[in-house]
Amino acid sequence: MTSPDYKFLTAQLRALLVDENDALASASNFVALLYNALEDVNWLGIYVSRGDELVLGPFQGKPACVHIAIGAGVCGTAAATLQTQRVADVHAFEGHIACDPDSRSEIVVPLISKGILIGVLDVDSPTPDRFTAADQVGIENMCLAFCELQDSRAEFI
Ligand code: SME
Repeated sequence: MTSPDYKFLTAQLRALLVDENDALASASNFVALLYNALEDVNWLGIYVSRGDELVLGPFQGKPACVHIAIGAGVCGTAAATLQTQRVADVHAFEGHIACDPDSRSEIVVPLISKGILIGVLDVDSPTPDRFTAADQVGIENMCLAFCELQDSRAEFI
């Protein structure tokens, strides 16, 4: 499997977002850009922070669960700990929420803007142990760029 050029993707992301004020449109384009660049991914999307839970936002893939409590599943754990969760085998992750039964491995990156959790990015694969440490760094850097360009857009929250 070939890895995408994350530096190039991050530059593309910046170009897509830099002149755009609409937070929902920016999040949608982020998701579409990354989904189409990654091989062997069955679901990719953003859950946004709403009070004490995460709520489904822009995504690509099959319809998914809408509400996730902070601390629940892989997404809720990333939100509660503010740490990326890279899970090689979702069936071995206690409390994993199975939205798409095809998903076997997963990476969830918290989206933190101005020190505030605004959501998480969730990427699922049908292949066990799909995501490498290099994927984690690349995806985290894209999330950092997204959050940086999200700074003035309180309406995303
Ligand atoms: N598996 C996630 C739930 C979201 S779906 O995969 C789209 C979790 O355990 O948090």
